[in-house]
Amino acid sequence: MAIHKVLVTGANGQLGWELAQAAGSFPAFDFVFVDRNAMDLSNPNELEAIVTLFAPDAIINTAAYTAVDKAETETELAHTINAEAVAQLAKIAKHKNIPFITYSTDYVFNGNATSPYLTDTLLEPVNYYGQTKADGEQMAMAENPSTIIIRTSWVFSSHGNNFVKTMMRLMKDKDALNIVGDQKGRPTYAKDLALASIEILKALNEGKPIKGIYHYANKGETSWFDFAQKIKALAGLECNLTAITSDQFPTPAKRPNYSVLDTQKLENELGIEIPHWETALKQCIDQLI
Ligand SMILES: NC(=O)c1ccc[n+]([C@@H]2O[C@H](COP(=O)([O-])OP(=O)(O)OC[C@H]3O[C@@H](n4cnc5c(N)ncnc54)[C@H](OP(=O)(O)O)[C@@H]3O)[C@@H](O)[C@H]2O)c1
Repeated sequence: MAIHKVLVTGANGQLGWELAQAAGSFPAFDFVFVDRNAMDLSNPNELEAIVTLFAPDAIINTAAYTAVDKAETETELAHTINAEAVAQLAKIAKHKNIPFITYSTDYVFNGNATSPYLTDTLLEPVNYYGQTKADGEQMAMAENPSTIIIRTSWVFSSHGNNFVKTMMRLMKDKDALNIVGDQKGRPTYAKDLALASIEILKALNEGKPIKGIYHYANKGETSWFDFAQKIKALAGLECNLTAITSDQFPTPAKRPNYSVLDTQKLENELGIEIPHWETALKQCIDQLI
């Protein structure tokens, strides 16, 4: 059955919002966006009735418990939203025989690698948020092997809370900032991830066998310090930036030293070119200034 009506959770999140911005350019799809009030993932037992009401041809789950440090103590809620609800949505999609796309994180890995993580690299979550996402991946795949899981990293957008907007605010307010320089990763513009997600819908409609685990992040890699320097330059801000070590910036949840995702599998299967993070960052900052 061709996909036309697509139910998208997490309407007010970075990715949900970017999907809503992009939706108008893809009239082949009828996107229906639901926020926390319309579809609360902390009540997994109520999800089936809501999905049935909307009768979609596909589900995209962008909603998640994303408060990484708070997840260390709010463990039950984080697990319900990121694991149990995701498994339940996968099960519902299987019953209804419709595609299900959901998202995971670079934090499912241990952060000690020195070369990019492949989609089948062993899971060893670096913190409890990563554990809930790893559990969600495994529980969803067990319920429904056709589930499409896209791991992503360092997500930013002109909408919502993220490093880019926080840095721009702090650089305006302060003369100097210390930024962690010994953690490396791949920034991801939520707009580019939204467009890649729509490419997946198109590929499914063309009968391509997309399923299982994929990685998506913008091209290139950087450290938080170098990312901040680029933000400063592109936004034309004045602020003294100093690189510090992770040890000098302790957080409740541990962060990975190295979380570079290898995105080749998705690029090959979809036949897409992923934009470089600096190009993506410029687009995002142009919207913010
Ligand atoms: N942000 C990152 O750097 C990052 C990195 C790696 C992976 N990811 C993953 O990428 C996906 C998209 O992330 P994002 O950056 O768009 O996240 P986000 O901006 O934090 O948005 C998450 C959305 O989930 C919603 N939500 C939270 N609890 C909910 C609940 N109980 N029921 C329904 N909705 C609920 C939030 O609603 P409210 O607006 O009402 O709070 C919010 O709109 C997620 O799976 C995330 O885990 C993100």
